[in-house]
Amino acid sequence: MHALTPVVPPPAAAPLPAFVQQRVERFYHQRVAVDWGGRHILRGRRPEPGDLLLQSNDYLAIAGHPDIEQAQREALARHGQGMMMSALFMQDEADPLHQLEVTLARAVGSQAGILAQSGYAANVGLLQSIADERVPVYIDMLAHASLWEGIRSAGARAVPILHNEPAHLERHVLRHGPGVIVVDAIYSTNGSLAPLAEIVDIGTRHGCVLVIDESHSLGTHGRHGEGLVASLGLMPKVHFVTVSLAKAYCSRAGFIACNSAFKDYFGCEAFPAIFSSALLPHDVAGLAAAHRVIAAADERRERLRSITMRVRAALAALGYPIEDGSEQIIAFEAGVETLTAHVRDLLEAHGIFGSVFSAPATTRNRSLLRLTLNAGMSEADVERLIDTCRRLREAMRVDSWSASRRRRRPVDALEQVA
Ligand SMILES: Cc1ncc(COP(=O)(O)O)c(C=O)c1O
Repeated sequence: MHALTPVVPPPAAAPLPAFVQQRVERFYHQRVAVDWGGRHILRGRRPEPGDLLLQSNDYLAIAGHPDIEQAQREALARHGQGMMMSALFMQDEADPLHQLEVTLARAVGSQAGILAQSGYAANVGLLQSIADERVPVYIDMLAHASLWEGIRSAGARAVPILHNEPAHLERHVLRHGPGVIVVDAIYSTNGSLAPLAEIVDIGTRHGCVLVIDESHSLGTHGRHGEGLVASLGLMPKVHFVTVSLAKAYCSRAGFIACNSAFKDYFGCEAFPAIFSSALLPHDVAGLAAAHRVIAAADERRERLRSITMRVRAALAALGYPIEDGSEQIIAFEAGVETLTAHVRDLLEAHGIFGSVFSAPATTRNRSLLRLTLNAGMSEADVERLIDTCRRLREAMRVDSWSASRRRRRPVDALEQVA
């Protein structure tokens, strides 16, 4: 018998100085104890077999696809971890990373493309490379945090624009002059669709650079999954499309569609490209296989569309305030965080799991439970979701959600700003 190794507690880390310690304590005393009623808001029930998980961004349900897994296995066997280095040093155009950039660029109808380690890195690197303290950046208030972070790291001036309000955008562009316009094609918190044609028209007329984040539309939207910008024929007028490939592409990566001259500039300018290591060979191989699966996934796209329409129509008929969005992401915006946690707990008790979004992912008074639909849902899953929402409507106190209150009175711009 082996002698048991005595358990020696690790030495305590150095005590934090007060200016950090106060921040940590504020988290426990204010966020956990007060705002969340004493329980970490993101910790709900552990899912069990048979539960309906509506948390993943794998919209086309391709996780575990045999072609993708095999491509990853083969790449790992052949190349191991590859060369651990920044993309900056990978200058051979024959490298599978660059080959895949060409393939993805063609798929969205752009001249060139850049793969990044994540959608976050793509957005931060891009904004850092195109904006500076002289450039106003007009950004939709609901745009993804990585885009805001890019503006911050560029030292540029963010000009917040009311969500999906092109008239507000144009007023600001006229006031502050040409700059960068930043929007999401589909918004990650509520599934709303940007009025892309109008926004692109404003940008073009006023000499602005257009950046459109297609994280929630590449793969799912467009005839072959080419995304909204391409399918609406807007690519020739748009300067940059950015994407997190951790959604429909089900991989760990990001992408920027751009013109050829920009690509080399980005490689030597964007900090994530210079100072952070590139994707690994099996990431690239998995992505290339995912792209082939997605290009041929018309049925999955169609299924996602029909599930989305059915669930949205049923929930709307039940009086759920979900009309801010129209796509596969559905927000149950309860508002107050403890009410959102209550909604989550009720649904989880009935085997349905969504994701809680609260500050800083939303404003404090607009926390929500996000349900993401996917093409792998069976008819029984769809029925179960609708039926559960029918039965729990009263218990979930839908009429007191912030989204229901907003519906009862005209949109108040101040609430959006808060
Ligand atoms: C619209 C949008 N852009 C960018 C990102 C960042 O993507 P990633 O997870 O690949 O860093 C996300 C992910 O949450 C997103 O929803």
